[in-house]
Amino acid sequence: MCGIVGYIGPNSATPRLIAGLRKLEYRGYDSSGIALVAPVNGNNEILLRREVGKIDALQRELDTHPLTADATVGIGHTRWATHGVPSVRNAHPHLSRNGRIAVVHNGIIDNYQELRAQLTARGFEFRSETDTEVLAHLIELNSADTLVDSVRAALRHVQGTFGIAVVSADFPDEMIVARRGSPIVIGSNGTETLVASDVAPIVPYTTSVTFLDDGDIAILTPGRFEIRSLSNASVSREPTSVDWDPGAAEKGGFEHFMLKEIFEQPEALENCLRGRLIEADGAAKLSGLRLEPRDIASLSNLVITACGTSYYAGLHGSYAFEQLAGIPARIEQAAEFRYRNPIVSPDTGVIAISQSGETADTLAAVREAARKGALVCSICNVVGSTIAREAGRGIYLHAGPEIGVASTKAFLCQVAVLNMMALLFGRTRRLSNAEGICIVRAMQQLPNLVRSVLAQNDRICAIAEKIAGCTDAFYIGRGYMYPAALEGALKLKEISYLHAEGYHAAELKHGPIALLDEHVPVIACAPSIPGHDKTMGNIQECRARKAPVIVIASEGDESVSAFTEDVIRIPACHEIVAAIPVVVAEQLLAYHVARLRGEPIDQPRNLAKSVTVE
Ligand code: G6P
Repeated sequence: MCGIVGYIGPNSATPRLIAGLRKLEYRGYDSSGIALVAPVNGNNEILLRREVGKIDALQRELDTHPLTADATVGIGHTRWATHGVPSVRNAHPHLSRNGRIAVVHNGIIDNYQELRAQLTARGFEFRSETDTEVLAHLIELNSADTLVDSVRAALRHVQGTFGIAVVSADFPDEMIVARRGSPIVIGSNGTETLVASDVAPIVPYTTSVTFLDDGDIAILTPGRFEIRSLSNASVSREPTSVDWDPGAAEKGGFEHFMLKEIFEQPEALENCLRGRLIEADGAAKLSGLRLEPRDIASLSNLVITACGTSYYAGLHGSYAFEQLAGIPARIEQAAEFRYRNPIVSPDTGVIAISQSGETADTLAAVREAARKGALVCSICNVVGSTIAREAGRGIYLHAGPEIGVASTKAFLCQVAVLNMMALLFGRTRRLSNAEGICIVRAMQQLPNLVRSVLAQNDRICAIAEKIAGCTDAFYIGRGYMYPAALEGALKLKEISYLHAEGYHAAELKHGPIALLDEHVPVIACAPSIPGHDKTMGNIQECRARKAPVIVIASEGDESVSAFTEDVIRIPACHEIVAAIPVVVAEQLLAYHVARLRGEPIDQPRNLAKSVTVE
């Protein structure tokens, strides 16, 4: 949520900042801006350009009002508004009163109102409604001999979360960055140094990146950087080598990142499963968990915690753990977990799921679980992300970078990882070798199951045309199809802005059925797995209310033809994996509806891919 970038080196900063911001645009895109330290008539000054809207709008502003190409130090920001509407004056960077310090910030200053009142009393005038502006003024107010000391002194007054980058016209050869709660990554290739909210803007320069920890502050100069603590102790952080093909974050001929990522799913699953399924043992090997069989056997219950799409993957996981491993497992929304004072004990395993590894509530849930002595592990996609590092043990998805705001391949890989984890736990607890082999074989089918749904893209597009003009839709399912129904509805509402609700198929009649008529389609997740017959009955109930029905059914199931011609087929498969092809059908349906409605699919309004505020 909000992306920050900074460049210091021998080359012109503006194009490098813009290129970096484009890679971070998924984090927020309601406004953006850059600030440069530039020589003007023999003196250094801060030059600023900000614009409402996406990076293209900022680029147009820079084309109309160019900034000097001589500036080789600068910071940039792409915003997801928290305090104050998206506007030029609320866009970052923010300047200090004397205009000589510029700040970009990701996070929330909790005590900004108090700080704002104090600064106002001392004569500082505020030009924005943001929490961030207090930082710029505080740094000026706490001016010291060095920029790092000024920033450090200012941050002493700040409560809340931040990832910041600061430049000053009085210290033109350096940049200061600091972190508490919001990600900061630094990379240097020996002549140029970059900072960003994630690795994407840095990998074109170097694949060796360093993640700051909370409480770190760093001084960046061209070609090097030094990390210290906010209390001025020296700090050493090991660099991480990023195994990332920069081309993986390009659209590669697809109209949208989302469509590209949907079509990448067979490969993403292959990467996720590679080396982890042991067919002869009917088991899974997940070394990042660092759990011995006796550790697994000693757990008495599991709590899975996550937000958004990851929460629905977690719901699936809770079913899989209970089915395969016979261990009580429940899913809890991470914001609830962190504040509800849940009961966890040393024999509770807490599994935090987060694609980005940065979601504020999920991170707080990890900390709460660790504080209560639970055994904590993570399932993340982004290597080196905060949740992955703080949990200490966990499983990476290896889904590759996901740029589209609506999660697709990460969700599928989360479900696959949870199934593998449930299999591992099952084999340690109660699953026989033969049963384990059956699950392994079902999992090995996954890439092909997905391919068979992708092959129906045109047909799904034709079905999408029939519902693209609706205003409401329902998704129903039971068993493993219940989380799949919730995920389908989320995808549709996120990108098409159609009102969509996911319901347990049995629950529909407890209220929402009152809303059904011939204008409200029902998408039924009804492959031939346990629960199928009951769902068929629920589809009948919908048809009796004249609701148009789209059914996602197994190949060869002719019973659905009685209700509708709009059937999307998935190959016959084990119930534990059925959600994966079903969700692919839902993704394509949502994608085509949004495309037909002309919506900005990769960057839906009001959303951000990484939610680093509560
Ligand atoms: C945001 C995104 C969702 C995502 C959720 C959790 O709301 O728009 O797509 O599911 O955050 O993100 P995480 O990175 O923790 O999986």
